Amino acid sequence: MRRNSLLAAGLLLCAAVALAAEPPSLKSLAPPGLRIGAAINRGQSSGGDPKAEAIVIRQFNTVTAENDLKWERVHPEPGRFDFGPADRYVDFGARNGMFVVGHVLLWHQQTPAWVFAGEGGKKLDRETLLARLRGHIATVVGRYKGRIGGWDVVNEALEEDGTWRKSPWLEAIGEDYVAKAFEFAHEADPAAELYYNDYNLWKPAKRDAAIRLVQGLKAKGLRVDALGEQAHWGIDDPPLEAIDEMLAAMRKAGFAVHVTELDMDVLPRDPDQWGADLAKKARIRAASNIYPDGLPPAMQEKLARRYADCFALFLKHGVGRVTFWGVTDATSWLHDFPIPGRVNYPLLWDKDGREKPAFDAVADVLRKRAAR
Ligand code: GLA
Repeated sequence: MRRNSLLAAGLLLCAAVALAAEPPSLKSLAPPGLRIGAAINRGQSSGGDPKAEAIVIRQFNTVTAENDLKWERVHPEPGRFDFGPADRYVDFGARNGMFVVGHVLLWHQQTPAWVFAGEGGKKLDRETLLARLRGHIATVVGRYKGRIGGWDVVNEALEEDGTWRKSPWLEAIGEDYVAKAFEFAHEADPAAELYYNDYNLWKPAKRDAAIRLVQGLKAKGLRVDALGEQAHWGIDDPPLEAIDEMLAAMRKAGFAVHVTELDMDVLPRDPDQWGADLAKKARIRAASNIYPDGLPPAMQEKLARRYADCFALFLKHGVGRVTFWGVTDATSWLHDFPIPGRVNYPLLWDKDGREKPAFDAVADVLRKRAAR
C-alpha cells in the first residue's frame, strides 16, 4: 500500500516537472487584448495533418479558414451551397475554444464567374449583384451566427495609389458596394465583429484611403471593428519605419488594427516575374530558388530578427490580433507565389513542424513584455 502511494506521488511529481518544463505557448505569452492565431487549411481542421493541428491547438487562440469560407468554396453555383469543410473548420475552432474568424464575404478573387454574369446574357446591373451579395451574406453569415466571432467583410477594395480597385463589384454596384456589404453582414449577425482587410496598407496613399474608407462607413452608422493589414511581407520589406507609421496612423484614426495574414517571404522577387514567357519564367525560377535544401543559419537568424522587430511594433501599437498565413513551412502558399515551384521558409515552424529560431524570437518578445 505504502509502496503504491509512494509510486503515485512519484508519478505526480514527474508529471508536474514535465508540465513546468514545457515552454509557454505564444497564446499564453501574449498580453491581454492580443489574439494570436493561424490560417488553417481543410486537412488541418479535419484530422488530416496531426502535426500542424497539435501546433495550432497548443499555440493559438484564434483561427482563420485559409480557403474554406471563400465564395467559390461555399457557394459554387447559384442556389448551391457546400458547407461541409466550412462546418468542420468552425467546429474545430469551437471545440478548441478559439475565436473563429470568417474569411471572406466579398472579394474580386476566388469568386465564381456566375456571380458577375448578367441575367440572360445582359450586362450585370446593380440590383442583381446587390441581391446576390445580400443572399450570399445572409446565408453564410446566418449559418454561423454566434459561432464565427468576426468576418473579413470586404477584401482588397483599393489600388496601390489609394484609388478604387476597378473590380466587377465597383463597376456594377458603384462605390457604396462596400457599405452595402457591411450593412448585410451586420443584418445577418449583429453580434459579429466586422473588418476591412487589404494588403500593403503600409504604403501611405493606400493606408490613408483605407482609413478614409472605414471612417466613411462609420459616419454612415455602420459597424466596423478593425482594419486588417494582411502583412504578406518580405525579409527586408516593408521597412520597419513604414510599418511603425502605418500602425500609428491607424491607431490615431481610432481604429483597432489586426495583422491578418502574416508571413515573411525570404526569396528574392524579380520585377520581371510576371512575364508570360515560359522559358524566361523557368530561368527566373532557377536563379531565385536559392535555398532548395534548407534555410542557412544566417538567414534563419535574419528571419528571427525580422519577426522580433515586427512583433515589437505590434506590441508598441496595441495590435488586437496577429494571424499567421499558415502553420508550418510545409504548406505555405509562398512555395508557388509569385513563381510556382520554389522552396520558401516564411513561418515559425519548419516543414517538419519544428520550431525555428523565428519562433523563439517571437516568444522572447512576448515573454519580455509579459515580464514588464
Ligand atoms: C490574399 C487573400 C487570402 C489568400 C492570400 C494568399 O491575401 O486575402 O485569402 O488568398 O491572398 O494566399
